[in-house]
Amino acid sequence: MSRRRVFITRPIPQEGIDRIKAIHTVELRKTDSPISRQELVVGMKKAEALLCILTDKIDAKLMDTAPQLQVISNYAVGVDNIDIAAATERGIVVTNTPGVLDEAVAEHALALMFSVARRIVESDTFTRAKKYKAWMPMGFLGPQLKGKTLGIIGAGRIGSTLAEAAYQGLGMKVLYHDVQSNTLIEKKAKAQYSSLSVLLKNSDVVSVHVPLLPSTRHLIDAKELRLMKKTAILINTSRGPVVAEKPLIRALQNGRLRGAGLDVYECEPFIDCDTSDRLELVKLNNVVLTPHTASATEEARIAMSELAATGVIDTLRNKKPINIVNPEVWSHRRK
Ligand code: GLV
Ligand code: GLV
Repeated sequence: MSRRRVFITRPIPQEGIDRIKAIHTVELRKTDSPISRQELVVGMKKAEALLCILTDKIDAKLMDTAPQLQVISNYAVGVDNIDIAAATERGIVVTNTPGVLDEAVAEHALALMFSVARRIVESDTFTRAKKYKAWMPMGFLGPQLKGKTLGIIGAGRIGSTLAEAAYQGLGMKVLYHDVQSNTLIEKKAKAQYSSLSVLLKNSDVVSVHVPLLPSTRHLIDAKELRLMKKTAILINTSRGPVVAEKPLIRALQNGRLRGAGLDVYECEPFIDCDTSDRLELVKLNNVVLTPHTASATEEARIAMSELAATGVIDTLRNKKPINIVNPEVWSHRRK
């Protein structure tokens, strides 16, 4: 088989790059900075495969500039950055990285839960500022998690991993909501299926684990936030637009919600959508903010690079990849 051209839009763990390089010619863009559309056009022009990241918007027009493109391998489990229907229409295979980052994301959701509940970042800032002068019986109080109710919205692989950890490790009660029930989460985490409104009304922590789809955009909006307990904490490690940011900021400012732990933002990579960049989120003490790092364990990122490489290598050797997102394309794929 002749060597094909593979364009990789960011440095990823070497394991995946090496696997591709052994068979194909790799063009690697060597910086993390956002890629311009023009750079994408140039990189994709002659490429048979594109390995891209979740902030690279790959739309129909861009696909039309890449007549030889056979596969788009997304270095992410979420594929909302790619027009899947347009890829399928053009015979282009799309792959993602499911299953290898479930523990990483669930652990990050737990880290955010604890950080908000026990006010870790606020306490760290306080201590570094040398403000710890006297032990305070009433200082930095927060809720215990054991015995509290965790509401999981989206009981897929990641939501289920979190449910199990919270139930078995922390003794939390688990409610879950999804488009369908999940017997495994019910068994492993004694999780109870509930409507979205019942879940929101009864949970002390709500954690969101749905993909971004037209049906999940602003799934948590002003109305949903109003249903939550005043003492509750919201965690979002899924996609920013699943939660309406402005009403969330208002609820956090007005004490209608205890706090939030956010790894994703509505206008990512910007922290809050206001074009004048008022940065309201960063002014709040009751939020903990991370830069979309929920999958950032060494283990998960290496496994993601290997799975992304599999998507490229298998497609180019006419083997249907296990991680194909649009299997219906296979019979009429571009070769
Ligand atoms: C990260 O957000 C991913 O979708 O993998
Ligand atoms: C959590 O602290 C709660 O009060 O529900």
